[in-house]
Amino acid sequence: MCGIIGYLGGQEATPILMDSLKRLEYRGYDSAGVAVLETPRPGSLIRTSVTKSEAKVDDLITKLKAGMPSGHLGIGHTRWATHGKPTYINAHPHTDCKGQIYVVHNGIIENFAELRRELQAKGHEFTSETDTEVVPHLIEAYYKGDFLAAVRAALKRLNGAYAMAMFSTEDPDLLVGARLNAPLVVGLGDDEYYIASDITAIIPYTKRVLVLGEGEVAAVTPLGAEVSTLDGTTVKPKLVHVDWDVSQAQKGGYPHFMLKEIHEAPEAVANAMRGRLTDDGVVSFREFSPADEDLARLREVLLLGMGTSRHAAVLGELAIEDWAGIHARAVDAAEFRYRRPTFGRDALAVVITQSGETADTLAGMRLAKDREALTVAVTNVFASSAARDADGAIYLHSGPEIGVASTKTYLAHVVSLYLLAMRLATAHGRVSLERKQELVASLRELPDQVRGILEREKEIASLAHKYSRYRSFLYTGRGFGFPVALEGALKLKEISYIHAEGVSGGELKHGPIAMLDKNFPVVAICTAGATSEKMVNSVHEIVARDAPVLALVTEGDTSLDGVATDLFTIPRTEEAAAAILNSVVLQLFAYHVAVELGQNVDQPRNLAKSVTVE
Ligand code: AGP
Ligand code: GLU
Repeated sequence: MCGIIGYLGGQEATPILMDSLKRLEYRGYDSAGVAVLETPRPGSLIRTSVTKSEAKVDDLITKLKAGMPSGHLGIGHTRWATHGKPTYINAHPHTDCKGQIYVVHNGIIENFAELRRELQAKGHEFTSETDTEVVPHLIEAYYKGDFLAAVRAALKRLNGAYAMAMFSTEDPDLLVGARLNAPLVVGLGDDEYYIASDITAIIPYTKRVLVLGEGEVAAVTPLGAEVSTLDGTTVKPKLVHVDWDVSQAQKGGYPHFMLKEIHEAPEAVANAMRGRLTDDGVVSFREFSPADEDLARLREVLLLGMGTSRHAAVLGELAIEDWAGIHARAVDAAEFRYRRPTFGRDALAVVITQSGETADTLAGMRLAKDREALTVAVTNVFASSAARDADGAIYLHSGPEIGVASTKTYLAHVVSLYLLAMRLATAHGRVSLERKQELVASLRELPDQVRGILEREKEIASLAHKYSRYRSFLYTGRGFGFPVALEGALKLKEISYIHAEGVSGGELKHGPIAMLDKNFPVVAICTAGATSEKMVNSVHEIVARDAPVLALVTEGDTSLDGVATDLFTIPRTEEAAAAILNSVVLQLFAYHVAVELGQNVDQPRNLAKSVTVE
């Protein structure tokens, strides 16, 4: 989720690793480490020097400078913990029992628990809590004199997501990289090679990079880089010439972090489901695993959050109420903290916070704990205050989000809450198997459908161009479309500073409609759902007041053709899943309006990424 770097060449590896890790620092991370294969002195054995820090890269650099390991092959890592706290022991690189194989990894090994058990039964000893540590042990188990063959055999056993760099003391001229569902490039220098998760890491050294495809392995030796599949078939990788500067590279070539993060939505949605959901709708969360009986006794679910996280909470409320049949309510944590609530031990408080550090949300959680409710934090940051203080944690696994406006993590929050709703539905004996299978199928389609929306960015940008001249907007929707409207309006106002309000379609006639005229456009969420016909009626009412309408509708639905001013279609899916697709459209819409107006989208005025004060 954070960064990896590998080097093999004629120069000293340590200064290059230090410099590259420093350049990956902008992403945020929780710990870092390097392993350098030291050039043996005459008569001495080859050895690997490992240096780790659970603090800043500067701390790691200070440690490295003290010893300055000398060698021409090395790997480095900045960690965004997913399994195991950000401690020294859990920092990468990880190694096997004999200390011969060294691995750095970004991503998640979904089936690590069963692999770990299998390896432990064969006598392997583990020192960390990470999922990653199974990798060097698995390679060790398959090693019969050919490191690359052992790596391939090991990788075939892994499910999940990985970008990795690794080497073995037994094969001191070989650096191996591999990827699946996580980015990895091989940089080509003059007789030297780099492996990196992020071009930023290597940009001063080379502009020529090989982009690895899914499930491919790069074997780098002083003679060159060869790319192959896990079956050993050689492939011709794509050679790209990158002429980005450092700042462009940090943003993956996108003009803003926010846009890069919107484009990371398919992975964020997939990562939130990874390893947690079967086709039959059986959900398991590793760090929140109460027994069915404990969940079955729950009579109330409170979903606490602020801002975008509160909007995710409203979608969670709808899913929990509908699928699990439990009374659920999304609450503004800042208000909640001063109330005198009546719930008690039969309540679950779901604490929704990307950063895990929002003061109001944490205060709400304390109140819930005082009343002896069961608590679970849904957060992106491992071992954050929310994750530490709650009874359990559901991690988003979205990787760092740098743009102040939450985008990919909001989607991951929503998916996580849907999974929680399914977990509660099972414990409460609600929802038939067929219905669960339908819901799972629609969730599984989401990453590709989101990709489809992102491919239509130009269409959204041209709508944004057209609408950016207005100074006020109303966003409206019903059912799962209502929180989408709330979030769409928030996104627009926080980055473009245009006045925008989200109201339910039903509420419109009770006041907000008074504002409408030809200069007051409405974004209407009209995609298929229990109340979509009602939304069609609302659009007619809006149009009758001359307000321009941008309507989001389901493909094939013609009911607003010739009625709404502009239409944007999304694929037919479950109402809950459509909320994700509609949200991506509105994120891109807000982004392009703000860019059109020349605003600083990554750091909007008056806002902070994490609001740690009341
Ligand atoms: C969203 O774009 C904002 N950054 C803000 O509303 C945010 O969602 C809110 O401050 C809560 O943050 P949290 O998820 O880190 O608790
Ligand atoms: N899952 C691994 C860990 O928790 C890698 C995390 C990362 O991508 O940095 O150590």
